[in-house]
Amino acid sequence: MNNKITLKKLQKMKIQKQKIVMITAYDALFASIFDKSVDIILVGDSLNMSFSGENDTLSATMDQMIYHTKAVTKKTDKTFVLFDMPFGSYTDKKKALKNATRAYQETGVDAVKLEGGREKAKIVKYLTKNAIAVFGHIGLKPQSVRSEGGYSIKGRDSKEKDDIIKNAIALEKAGAVALIIEGVKPDVAFEVTNSVNIPVIGIGAGVDCDGQVLVWSDMLGFYDEFMPKFVKQYLDGGKLVGDAVEEYVKDVKSGEFPNLDYTY
Ligand code: KIV
Repeated sequence: MNNKITLKKLQKMKIQKQKIVMITAYDALFASIFDKSVDIILVGDSLNMSFSGENDTLSATMDQMIYHTKAVTKKTDKTFVLFDMPFGSYTDKKKALKNATRAYQETGVDAVKLEGGREKAKIVKYLTKNAIAVFGHIGLKPQSVRSEGGYSIKGRDSKEKDDIIKNAIALEKAGAVALIIEGVKPDVAFEVTNSVNIPVIGIGAGVDCDGQVLVWSDMLGFYDEFMPKFVKQYLDGGKLVGDAVEEYVKDVKSGEFPNLDYTY
């Protein structure tokens, strides 16, 4: 398909300073809506929280991610689709390749994403050598929530800032095709964006990245258990759906629905 977003187009967007827009999606219905306007759909392991009702992303499995990604790729023509490697699926390079190959073969996805900095460079290099396109995910890493005892902003002091920049450079050197940077002060994201030649997509990282990503259920108001400061809510989806369903219940209880308009 001609207008399909490719890695080359994403790279060009960085050079031409056109912002890249990424959103998460976990199913065919929403993917087909988002496909009309966004550049990248991330099938994020955040689905483990908003869709599966878990407290964090750590119990998401390869089977679960493949199921959801297949639904997304079925209904996307134009958008670049990114597969989030779940916790424990890339602990060594052989395991990472086996799982990333599954993602490529079973879902038709365009690239995979994994969390980590220079400690993951060897894995990124190995995947890249084996024709898998890899997005790195640095800064706040949601899969580290238990080992770190919570979510916290990264890059608060110069040591942490240097560390994040070194991670970005090491991942680019290892062959990463793009980076996601999460939960950092804007000056850190600015430096990272200007230190590498690959696109840098921010979430909770200020305005200076090459693009932005948000979790769809947060920005459309369907998930209110935890609402970070960086989420702009574009729709009060939970309330709209709740009100519509209440109206349906009222209509059924009162015998208003189905009237003759809805009857054969
Ligand atoms: O899983 C996810 O949705 C993500 C985003 C927070 C970038 O990794």
